[in-house]
Amino acid sequence: MKAAVMRKNHAPLELEDVRIDDPGPGEVLLETAASGICHSDLHVIEGGLPMPPPCVLGHEPAGVVEAVGAGVTDFAPGDHVIGCLTSFCGVCKFCTQGRPYLCPTQFAGRPPGTKPRLSDASGAPLLQFANLSSFAEKMLCPERSLVKIRDDMPLDCASLIGCGVTTGLGAVLNTVHVPAGASVVIIGCGGVGLSAIQGARITGAGRIVAVDSQTWKFEVASNLGATDCVDAKDGDPVAAVQALTGGGADFVFECIGLVPTVQQAVAMTGRGGTTVLVGVVPVTEMVPISAADLTLQEKKITGSYMGSNRFRFDMPKYVDFYLDGRLRLDEMISARIALEDVNDALDHMRRGEAARQVIVFD
Ligand SMILES: NC(=O)c1ccc[n+]([C@@H]2O[C@H](COP(=O)([O-])OP(=O)(O)OC[C@H]3O[C@@H](n4cnc5c(N)ncnc54)[C@H](O)[C@@H]3O)[C@@H](O)[C@H]2O)c1
Ligand SMILES: [Zn+2]
Ligand SMILES: [Zn+2]
Repeated sequence: MKAAVMRKNHAPLELEDVRIDDPGPGEVLLETAASGICHSDLHVIEGGLPMPPPCVLGHEPAGVVEAVGAGVTDFAPGDHVIGCLTSFCGVCKFCTQGRPYLCPTQFAGRPPGTKPRLSDASGAPLLQFANLSSFAEKMLCPERSLVKIRDDMPLDCASLIGCGVTTGLGAVLNTVHVPAGASVVIIGCGGVGLSAIQGARITGAGRIVAVDSQTWKFEVASNLGATDCVDAKDGDPVAAVQALTGGGADFVFECIGLVPTVQQAVAMTGRGGTTVLVGVVPVTEMVPISAADLTLQEKKITGSYMGSNRFRFDMPKYVDFYLDGRLRLDEMISARIALEDVNDALDHMRRGEAARQVIVFD
């Protein structure tokens, strides 16, 4: 099968013939139907998230089950599924307390010493990204990385739910439970931020302010629920948000992952408000913030990982939201591309020229 392989950091992915093993116990082989491209893939290429090459990236997939391994009971050939990087064991402290997205086994892969799921033409192993590796025609995943969805859900839109939508919607609905009427700011209108905007609209937030540095994004953001837009190129976005929200917002979601925008997010948060860090700041960087600002105004800061998901419960619900018109996914797709065009798509993302780009497979 064809796959885009990361041979080294800071270099284009290479299209190669890759071998995929048969499904082992508890594993499912999928025909990949579509894979969104998330900024976290780009972070890995640029070294901001550690994952050694050679590996196959891609973690926002939808597909169709081709075969199942021994003991798999939740899936059968022909099932339509979404893949999620927060695989869960079901028995650890985090899984049993209702926070399976924190399961420490989620990146475990096959046990050491066993045959790799993916290998190159010479037989050398290729690492699988988050048990998924969806920049490939087929995927071999643990069944606990997958959820079955309705057959009437278009698979290109479904793929977005695999990461960006679950992350953005879940940050609003699961991590901090934004109440109706609250003022909300979303910094960064990529796939994740646009999903957070939709989460804020769905939950009935009051003012929903979108901040970005690409003016063209505001048309999309407004269509998806933003009530106000702040162009970060037009002066100080903090002052603009404070003016719109009477001194600061109840909830501010940073959906980019840059040091200055994390600082802006804290500054835009109003008295008693909450800053939610969704964007991934490169692991090598630290963010100076004013502790006194937190103490004296009782602001809170929290991270939000993968939308604090219980994806077997959340994702079919988000599919229903799409099919009943509440969640708008077609509007988020700025391009449908072939796997061969993945490097161009990554360049578009680097330049902020894309909302969500989706690789579609025949
Ligand atoms: N917390 C999680 O579990 C989780 C999950 C998925 C993705 N992420 C992270 O979320 C972030 C966003 O991902 P994405 O796929 O939506 O990215 P993206 O590249 O599609 O979107 C980023 C947006 O930020 C805007 N932007 C860039 N610099 C800016 C600036 N200085 N001021 C204002 N706007 C600016 C861009 O124009 C773009 O619209 C990434 O860091 C990604 O790794 C986190
Ligand atoms: Zn992602
Ligand atoms: Zn667990």
